[in-house]
Amino acid sequence: MTKAEQLQHVRKSLEDDLETLPLGDIGEQTVPGDGNAEAEIVFIGEAPGYHESVERKPFVGKSGQLFIKTLAEVGYPRPTVYITNIVKVRPPENRDPLPEEIKAYRPYLDKEIEIIAPKLIVTLGRFSMAKFLPEVKISQVHGRLHKVKWNEKFLFVLPMYHPAAALRNPQMSASFVADFQKIPKILQWIDTKGREAIQEAEEHQELESSVKEALFS
Ligand code: URA
Repeated sequence: MTKAEQLQHVRKSLEDDLETLPLGDIGEQTVPGDGNAEAEIVFIGEAPGYHESVERKPFVGKSGQLFIKTLAEVGYPRPTVYITNIVKVRPPENRDPLPEEIKAYRPYLDKEIEIIAPKLIVTLGRFSMAKFLPEVKISQVHGRLHKVKWNEKFLFVLPMYHPAAALRNPQMSASFVADFQKIPKILQWIDTKGREAIQEAEEHQELESSVKEALFS
C-alpha cells in the first residue's frame, strides 16, 4: 500500500470510529489530516475551528491563512507539506481540547506520523508541543530544533507559536515569521548531519531528548 492509501485508511477509520470518540455526538464532522503523503514536514495544530469543520480541512480559516502564507514565503507551498491536528473534531465554541480528547484522538495522529515518517515535525502551539516536549514553555523553546525520543525512536521536532497567537500579538507575529524562516536551513542540516545524529543516538541507546538550537541561531 502507498503512503497515500495508508492515510486514506486512517481517515476512514476515524470516520467509522467517530460515534465512539469524545466530541463524536455534537454534530460536527471529522477533520482529518491533509496534504502530501510524501511530505518532508508534518505540521501539527490543536483542533479544527468553524471553517475547518465546514470544509473538513485543517487550517483554512483566518489563522490558517497566515500560516499557509508564511509557509509559502519560505518556500513550502501547502501541497508540499502535510498538516494535521491533535484533536480531529471541532470542540464546542473552539474551547481548548481536554486531556481525554487528546488521548482518544492520539492513535490517529500517531498513525499519520508513522506512515509519513517526516524529516521534521513542526508543532503549532502548546498542545501539540506537549505531545513531544511535555515539560517546557513555548516562550522559551519556540524556533529551536529538538531531537526527541518518542515511541522508542528519535524524531526532530521544531516547536512554533500557534498562528492564532501570532494574529493576536505583534511580538509573537515577528517570532512566528522568524521561526518559519529557519525551516529551509534546518531541513538542510537534517539532510547532512541530522540523520547521523539520530543514528548515533539510537546506537548509543540515548535516553534523553536534546536541543539542537545552537546550530540555527
Ligand atoms: N487551529 C488549529 O489548531 N487547527 C486548525 O485546523 C485550525 C485552527
